[in-house]
Amino acid sequence: MQGNIDMPCRRDFILASLAFGMFLIDGKSLAGSFKHYKFKHEPYKGPLLEKLLRLAKRLDSGQLAPSQYALEVQKRLRETKGVAEFKPWFEEIMQKPALAKLYESSWDKRRPALNLFFIPKGLAHAPHAHHSLTSTQLILSGKIHLRQYDRIKRIDRKHLGIRLTSDRVLKPGEAFRMTDFENNIHWFGAESEHSLLLNCNLSLINGKSFDPRGSRKPARYYIDPTSKAREDSLIIAPQIWGDENREEFLEKFEKNPLSKFSV
Ligand SMILES: [Fe+2]
Repeated sequence: MQGNIDMPCRRDFILASLAFGMFLIDGKSLAGSFKHYKFKHEPYKGPLLEKLLRLAKRLDSGQLAPSQYALEVQKRLRETKGVAEFKPWFEEIMQKPALAKLYESSWDKRRPALNLFFIPKGLAHAPHAHHSLTSTQLILSGKIHLRQYDRIKRIDRKHLGIRLTSDRVLKPGEAFRMTDFENNIHWFGAESEHSLLLNCNLSLINGKSFDPRGSRKPARYYIDPTSKAREDSLIIAPQIWGDENREEFLEKFEKNPLSKFSV
């Protein structure tokens, strides 16, 4: 779990509120899942970029463990000027709720992905695990209800034993992060306001991994964490494998608030 942080300046929030007011979007109109959007605006070249590339080199050379890297990325994201630093891209994505890359990145070339992620009020990013990946998000505007879980053990190919690590609401300036062994599963939604997140992720190529490295892609693996926890707080959570039940799963978790599901 991460601690409190300094808030971005008031001007950022006013800017965000104005833009939200200008482009009201009905989240229910999205067709089942978030879309990837390619910006028309030129790629981001701000000071954050160089900082992230330097951190990626330190991760790959072993100077930083994944948990240290994720913490350092989180600090760098907080050093940005919030919404103001991403205004041209923010204005573009406000009309097209989606996940959008701020510059060209590639896992092979070891350039961290930096994205703006717009979540309209009423939608959630469904619960999912990642494999050999670290991902960090900063709330730029809005409010995000977040639940995170640790993967404790693999039960079988389709089930994981997981444990809830946090259930809270984040405001602008707050951040969260995951690695293979910390808060690997996350689930977050915009329950009361349209929300904009700054997201940075990078695949992990060194060190221990939960499942054997190379056994699966460093993609998103949807997982249902809503089974009742056992007495030892372990939740036996089914993984949504391939296309099986995927549509039904996304309908259930993307279009309902987290608070509808008890913990
Ligand atoms: Fe994720």
